[in-house]
Amino acid sequence: MLPVLRGQRVVLRAPTQDDVPFLLAFANDPDLRGWLRFAFPTTEEMESRWLRGLDGERERVWLMTDPADGRAMGTLGLSEWDRVARHAELGLGILSPADRGRGVGEEAVRLALRHAFVDLNLQRVWLHVVEDNPARRLYARLGFREEGRLRRHYHKRGAWRDGIIMGLLREEWRG
Ligand SMILES: CC(C)(COP(=O)(O)OP(=O)(O)OC[C@H]1O[C@@H](n2cnc3c(N)ncnc32)[C@H](O)[C@@H]1OP(=O)(O)O)[C@@H](O)C(=O)NCCC(=O)NCCS
Repeated sequence: MLPVLRGQRVVLRAPTQDDVPFLLAFANDPDLRGWLRFAFPTTEEMESRWLRGLDGERERVWLMTDPADGRAMGTLGLSEWDRVARHAELGLGILSPADRGRGVGEEAVRLALRHAFVDLNLQRVWLHVVEDNPARRLYARLGFREEGRLRRHYHKRGAWRDGIIMGLLREEWRG
């Protein structure tokens, strides 16, 4: 069972089948596709099947919701959970530009890191980011370090872009 992670600006909770319309809008948003890894549009059936298949074993996905009214704002996932090496990949996105830039993403990442290091006992959290994404500053502020550059790894917003891998070790996490 996925725990609810509560902050002041955002509450992370497990998505349900009622959230499929939001997940579909998220997955098919052309602007988000310019920053996230997914490349192709999806269908309601595919989203619904993907949701049913989530078992929390290797991938944990939360909906980022507004504490005031519960509306969905975005998604956050810890995926590629390796229980031997104790690491997982972090990924997140906020659908509406109106919800970005007001501290929701930062708080959501903080909540996810606490869950990763305390509840899951991970020793490393890592992520992929497209080279020109301003989110790199946010991750750096939270202690993530750049670990590698994947040259011309993405074709996003009409051009080839390098991919950056960033990682945060347990002892570098500032709580
Ligand atoms: C990246 C994202 C989750 C950050 O969440 P957020 O709520 O907008 O960020 P916060 O308000 O908590 O923090 C602001 C920081 O986020 C970063 N940021 C990234 N995209 C941003 C945007 N569109 N608007 C404002 N800040 C953005 C900046 O580093 C900013 O810090 P700075 O002002 O010091 O430069 C969100 O902007 C988003 O969903 N962007 C599109 C999808 C995406 O790029 N996801 C990450 C893929 S690695």
